Amino acid sequence: MIENAPVILRMEGITKEYQMGDEVSVVLKGIDLEVRQGEFLAVLGPSGSGKSTLMNIIGCLDVPTAGNYWLNGRLIADEDQTSLAHIRSAEVGFIFQSFYLLQRQDAWSNVELPLIYANMHEKDRKARVEEMLTKVGLADKMHHFPNQLSGGQQQRVAIARAIATNPTILLADEPTGALDQKTGAQVMELFHELNDEGRTIIMITHDAKIAAHAERIVRILDGNISEGELEDA
Ligand SMILES: Nc1ncnc2c1ncn2[C@@H]1O[C@H](COP(=O)(O)OP(=O)(O)O)[C@@H](O)[C@H]1O
Ligand SMILES: [Mg+2]
Repeated sequence: MIENAPVILRMEGITKEYQMGDEVSVVLKGIDLEVRQGEFLAVLGPSGSGKSTLMNIIGCLDVPTAGNYWLNGRLIADEDQTSLAHIRSAEVGFIFQSFYLLQRQDAWSNVELPLIYANMHEKDRKARVEEMLTKVGLADKMHHFPNQLSGGQQQRVAIARAIATNPTILLADEPTGALDQKTGAQVMELFHELNDEGRTIIMITHDAKIAAHAERIVRILDGNISEGELEDA
């Protein structure tokens, strides 16, 4: 049961400020958040509410101005650059709106790359790439290049790449933002499958319909988080 599953992400009073000339702009205003292993969480908020800023902190791509953040029991502020890079690749699988695939590499090589960085042995690597691309429904397109794939297929390659190293959380920022409705729904189906297999997913979106696929939704507005139903939208 998820209620008893370990907490793998905890934030306490996370703030993020940007200095813009003389002005300080406060983008996150004291975020408290807990995510348990196996959860499928959506962070829902309008453009400019601080979603990507929060995602970058969750993914250890950026540091907060204040507050504490623990990922898998580790206080992130205590880690140096080397160990942060290691945490990023071991703990977090990133999925972005615009896929960020390497255009000169085929689907296979895009998925293989994080496994090379993780020093996986060649034989295991081959098996893993094949398994991942098959899982996302691209067994017959393993040697296609990104420009030979549809948007939905490119996002599937990105998902295969994100889960290849078996990260603690799958972190997706507007994963369907560049896709039409039908293709977006197929990507959400894949997220459901991955979550059913026990994978923890944090998905960031401005689209309430997409957020509804998650089992838990937190809302972000002007850098504040609120949980549960709102009176009106
Ligand atoms: N590097 C930065 N410097 C200054 N302001 C920033 C920076 N990054 C984001 N912001 C501001 O923070 C706010 C939230 O941005 P962001 O997290 O990208 O929102 P969202 O992803 O919800 O659209 C915006 O007002 C944006 O202009
Ligand atoms: Mg954003």
